[in-house]
Amino acid sequence: MHLGVLILAAGEGTRMRSRLPKVLHPLAGKPLLGHVIETARSITPDEVTIVYGHGGESVCNALAAADLDWVEQKERLGTGHAVMQALPQLQRVDQVLILYGDVPLISGSTLVSLLAALHQTDLALLTVDLPDPSGYGRIVRDRDDRVIRIVEQKDATARELEIAEINTGIMAVSRSHLETWLGRIENNNAQNEYYLTDIISMAVNDGVNIQVVHPVSEEEVMGVNDKKQLAHLERHFQRQLADELMQFGVSLSDPSRLDIRGSLTVGKDVTIDINALFEGEVALADGVRIGPNVVIKNSRIGVDTEILANSVIEDAEIGSGCRIGPFARIRPESHLSDQVHVGNFVEIKKSQVAAKSKINHLSYIGDTVVGSEVNIGAGTITCNYDGANKFQTVIGDRAFIGSDSQLVAPVTVAEGSTIGAGSTITKDTPAETLSLSRAKQISIEGWQRPVKKTKSS
Ligand code: UD1
Ligand code: CA
Repeated sequence: MHLGVLILAAGEGTRMRSRLPKVLHPLAGKPLLGHVIETARSITPDEVTIVYGHGGESVCNALAAADLDWVEQKERLGTGHAVMQALPQLQRVDQVLILYGDVPLISGSTLVSLLAALHQTDLALLTVDLPDPSGYGRIVRDRDDRVIRIVEQKDATARELEIAEINTGIMAVSRSHLETWLGRIENNNAQNEYYLTDIISMAVNDGVNIQVVHPVSEEEVMGVNDKKQLAHLERHFQRQLADELMQFGVSLSDPSRLDIRGSLTVGKDVTIDINALFEGEVALADGVRIGPNVVIKNSRIGVDTEILANSVIEDAEIGSGCRIGPFARIRPESHLSDQVHVGNFVEIKKSQVAAKSKINHLSYIGDTVVGSEVNIGAGTITCNYDGANKFQTVIGDRAFIGSDSQLVAPVTVAEGSTIGAGSTITKDTPAETLSLSRAKQISIEGWQRPVKKTKSS
C-alpha cells in the first residue's frame, strides 16, 4: 500500500490581515504548514503533496524540501477543486490522507487511527462534536446512525444546523475511489464551489461503509483563520509542552508563562522561573536554574549553572557551576567553561572564558580569549573594532584587569598580569607584572573652589 499525504494550503487567509501567507504564520516559532508537514512525516508516508494558492511561491520557497511535491491551484474553486489539481501527482499512491495547512496541531496518533480505520473500508472521516458547530460542515447521519452526507453551513437547513458533529475536513480515502468521485462533483451550491465533502454521499451511494474517527482533543482539528485563533492554539501548544516538561521532572514556577520555540532538552532537577523563552535547540543539564525573563537561543547550559533574571543567551555554550546575570548578554560563538561568573550588564561576544574567571559588572568582552581564574574589573572594555576590522584580545590565566580599563586589540595581557584601574592598554603586557597607563595623580596646595558671584548692582 502506497500512502500519499495531501495538504491543502491554497487558502487566502484574508482574516489574518497580513502580507505573510496564512500558512507561514509561526506557531511556536515554526510556520503553521511546517507543523502539518512534520506531523505528516511522522507517519512515514510515501509521498507528501502540498496544494498552494496563486502567488503562493513564497510558501514553497519557505518550506522547500526534497520529499515534498508542490501543486499550484490557480483559481480557488473549493476544496474538491484543490484535491483535483493534485490527482495527477498521486498516480502511484493507493491511499490519500487529506490534511489542511492551517490546522497545525493535528496529531500523528490521530492520523494513525484514521488510517487504521481506512484499512476496513474506502473512506475514513475525522469528525468531532463541538458545543458551537457554526461555520463548519455538519455530519448528517441516518436513523441507524450511519453517516450519509456532509452539508456545509451555507447549504444547511435549520434542523441540520443543530447538528453538533462537524467535519474537521481531515479524511483518508482510497485514491481510485477519490478519483472517481471527484470526477462527479459539481458546484451547484450556495458558494458555487467544488466541495470535497460531496464525495461522502457518493461513497454512501456506492455502498461504501464510512468509518468515523475522533481526535483526542478539539485543538487538534482547530483551524487558524485569524490572530485570535492563532494565539489560542499557541497557548494550547505551549501548555502541552509545559506539561511534558513537568512530567519529565522540571519545576516550572508557572506553566502558563513559558514559551518554547524549538526543542528544549532537560536533565534532572531543572527549575524554570516565569516568562522564560527558549528558541531553537536548547539543552539544560541537571540542576540548571533559569531565572525570570531569561531568553536562551540555540545554547547548551551545563550542570548546576544558574542563569539569573533578564539574561539573554544566544548560540553559546556555558559550562557547569556557572552563575550568569542578572542582566547578562552572552552573544553567539561564546564559550564559557566551568564555574565562570558573569554579572550584570556584561556583554560577551565570540569569546572563550576559561574556568573560574569572573566578569562581574558592566563590561564588553568581544573576540577575546580569557584564561582561567581571571578577574575582570567593572567597566572593562575590549576595543575589538577599529571601524573596519575586528581584532582579538588575549588575557592569560590569573590576570587581574583593574576597573574601567580598555584593552585595545590586538593585544595580549600575559598570565598573571595586573592592569591598574583606568588604564588604556595598547601594548602587550609581560607576565606577572603591573601595567598601567594613566597620568600621575597630582594635588594642588592652596587651590580654592570658585565661589558663586553675589548679585551686586
Ligand atoms: C471546509 C469543509 C467543511 C469543514 C471545514 C473544516 C468543504 C467544502 N468544507 O470548509 O465541511 O467543516 O473545512 O475547517 O470542504 N482550500 C484550498 N483551495 C480551495 C479551498 C480551500 O486549498 O479552493 C484549503 C484551505 O487553504 C484550507 C482548507 O482547504 O486549508 C479548507 O478551506 P476552507 O475555505 O477553510 O474550508 P471551509 O469552507 O471552511
Ligand atoms: Ca475554514
